[in-house]
Amino acid sequence: MNITKSELEAVAVRKNQYPEDNVKEIAFAGRSNVGKSSLLNLLVNRKNLARVSGSPGKTRTINFYRINDQFRIVDLPGYGYAKVSKSISEGWGDMMAQYLENRQGLTKVILLVDIRHAPSEQDIKMSEYIRHYGYNGIVVATKADKVSRNEMQKLLNVIRKDLGLLEDEIIIPVSTLKRTGYDKLLEEMDKLVAK
Ligand code: GTP
Ligand code: MG
Repeated sequence: MNITKSELEAVAVRKNQYPEDNVKEIAFAGRSNVGKSSLLNLLVNRKNLARVSGSPGKTRTINFYRINDQFRIVDLPGYGYAKVSKSISEGWGDMMAQYLENRQGLTKVILLVDIRHAPSEQDIKMSEYIRHYGYNGIVVATKADKVSRNEMQKLLNVIRKDLGLLEDEIIIPVSTLKRTGYDKLLEEMDKLVAK
């Protein structure tokens, strides 16, 4: 797949702010600072479509991006950001549940985890949550540039084991810095939207 057109279609905290549920959507989930917005920018080949930040908690809304006039990529707010107030983190759960329940067009929720670390308790919960709704199947291990080729397979195995991935579930190492791994992800996304 070649992404030639991308635009921010809606920014939402409530259901009535979502765009019409009439096209397929692929969502990105994962802890704050894991690299969701960076990955989106890499896929669409634009530096600043989604805001990227060194300080976690940048994306606090559900952002819907229209891709190739064909489908949407949905950048979900990150979790696990210690500094957000309790009311925001409670709001986060409601926001996620609202989106994940009854979204006809939703096709897959891709979970992003940092390749350097064993999945956190929250990553595992998120993974189970995604599985519960039937959107499991693809995990992206971000920041692959931070580890050596040698370590990579071992780290991917830890993530696979800790998240309890099934054999047919895939985990794709990606580096937005080195621009590696995203072709494989695009291939998988292509299959999802073509179905
Ligand atoms: P929230 O919006 O807070 O949920 O974070 P996010 O998941 O959208 O993360 P974001 O894309 O804003 O990236 C967070 C930080 O990680 C930024 O400083 C990025 O430059 C950095 N980063 C993202 N991807 C990579 C990568 O592949 N390699 C390296 N080295 N840094 C990365
Ligand atoms: Mg973000």
